[in-house]
Amino acid sequence: MKLKQTLLVAMLLTTSAALAAVTKSTFGKTAEGIPVSIYTLSNADLTVRIMTYGARVVSVEAPDRNGKKADVVLGYSDLAQYESDPGTYFGAIVGRYGNRIAKGKFSIDGHNYQIPTNNNGNALHGGPAGFSSKVWTAKEIPHGVEMTLVSPDGDMGFPGELTLRVTYRLEGSALVIIYNATTTKPTVINVTNHSYFNLAGDGNGTILPTLLMIDADRYTPIDAGLIPTGELAPVAGTPFDFRKPTAIGARIDQPNEQLKLAGGYDHNFVLNGKGPEKHLAAKAVDPASGRTLTVTTTEPGVQFYSGNFLDGTRTGKFGGKYAIHAGFCLETQHFPDSPNHPKFPSTLLKPGETLNSVTVFTFGVER
Ligand code: GAL
Repeated sequence: MKLKQTLLVAMLLTTSAALAAVTKSTFGKTAEGIPVSIYTLSNADLTVRIMTYGARVVSVEAPDRNGKKADVVLGYSDLAQYESDPGTYFGAIVGRYGNRIAKGKFSIDGHNYQIPTNNNGNALHGGPAGFSSKVWTAKEIPHGVEMTLVSPDGDMGFPGELTLRVTYRLEGSALVIIYNATTTKPTVINVTNHSYFNLAGDGNGTILPTLLMIDADRYTPIDAGLIPTGELAPVAGTPFDFRKPTAIGARIDQPNEQLKLAGGYDHNFVLNGKGPEKHLAAKAVDPASGRTLTVTTTEPGVQFYSGNFLDGTRTGKFGGKYAIHAGFCLETQHFPDSPNHPKFPSTLLKPGETLNSVTVFTFGVER
């Protein structure tokens, strides 16, 4: 009897460790007076906060190899700061088209569309009022939160009413992000999460010592406007070869034309694994703390951005300024400017179809 009871208690404890508690509180009101909520998802491994403004990840607390927790994403401590800085996209879901569309122009079935430009004459992350600056509708679900956004027909110039649902869920030490979308007219869509990670902890130095592995033999070189040239170039023999774990800072200052154009890494990598199944995108390790981040996805690409535009002017939630390379992004995605590159995997979504996309950020430690 005693043994049975002990087993039962052990089982209950194991299950409750895997269960995530979900709580909701307020994160203030937007300048227009719209209330914003923040959800805390918490289990034995992780505590993640996600708010309805931009469906943004605000914090992720993860343990190091000694069990010491630190917040490993960049962000702000209050809503007004997020609102007054639309250009970093800290933690946000970006869309309707993540990354760039050249000159904001594309056509579908002979119809031409123009997205207002917001980045050197190109449209970036959905245009000046993309999904990252909208207040989403949230619903608590087991182990997570489901965020919904209805983007009207013609929103930022995109055709069709798009209904996008993004589910954030904790599964042990993994943050699972599931994207589903439908449209009323043929449109293009490329949605991703724009979290900046620093596995040493938010505010704890730069990400240059972080070891990064990206499972990609090729990447998409860019022009001066950071628009893909259309080429799928081999990474072999270049500073873009991350097939073996390499410090982000090891080659970032090499005299390489592509690094110069972006002021560091800001490139889409063509993942070796293919959808619709989940495959490995990247793995990052902070050698000092032992914290690791493994990214798997159903998407064909990942934008590795080394925080080149952080310039020491923004005060983060840790209380100090974000210097260049204070965080890195691994934005799982379709390739930038795909609507203008028929050879890239298609980003077209038609009525009657559902976009299904999954990305998993798994946190761990190396001893
Ligand atoms: C990235 C993009 C960068 C930069 C950044 C936000 O996704 O590739 O060029 O715009 O977002 O500052």
